Amino acid sequence: MNNKRHDEYPGFLFVLEGIDGAGKTAVVDSLVELLSLNYDVVRLREPTNESQWGLEIRERSPSGALTPDEELELFHRDRQWHVKNRIRPALEAGKLVLMDRYFFASGAYQSVSTGIPWKEILRRNRVEIGAPEPNIIFILDVSVEVGLERALQRNGTKNEQFEQVDRLIKVREAYLAMTQKDDGMYVIVDAAKTLEEVTSEVYSEIVRYVKHRE
Ligand code: TMP
Repeated sequence: MNNKRHDEYPGFLFVLEGIDGAGKTAVVDSLVELLSLNYDVVRLREPTNESQWGLEIRERSPSGALTPDEELELFHRDRQWHVKNRIRPALEAGKLVLMDRYFFASGAYQSVSTGIPWKEILRRNRVEIGAPEPNIIFILDVSVEVGLERALQRNGTKNEQFEQVDRLIKVREAYLAMTQKDDGMYVIVDAAKTLEEVTSEVYSEIVRYVKHRE
């Protein structure tokens, strides 16, 4: 299918991944601010809040109304829409695309919830959707304890996440296994560091990569 390698597009695709509370969103906020000074940046996130499938996930998933198979299917359809309508057009237009989650999140989270191996989930995204390969996938790695503590501070209330320690331990393991066994270009970042340190590390990697191609 049409999943071009990243270097076949004029644009760049950088993805931030990690367990809940790894700090991705705050890092993306800072990166957009810094990179926009010199580059034409497009910020995207998954699940989207644009397609009917992304909206359905956002509405129904938090209350546990979806089965793991239904979730997998909705993420897949949302991504299909996203690749076609946002990601590929931005890459073809030469933009620097920064993504807060992508199909590696399906590999990590849905492998744990459905039991389907992450390799198979990544393969479906690549082959069936033709999802463009990122130039770099940053795995913001943090212990589950730190992640949950941060998520708790952000949400302000004690929520059900403490029941999810085992699940997140497995999600983290799946992400780390990908960095070892998948062919993608992964960079692991120690996300227990401060926001400034993490941002600066990711920023430097991105700029080095972009300058290298220019
Ligand atoms: P967020 O923390 O980036 O807002 O992510 C929303 C949740 O969606 C998070 O718990 C991870 C989950 N997710 C999946 O399970 N599979 C996916 O493919 C994506 C994109 C997100």
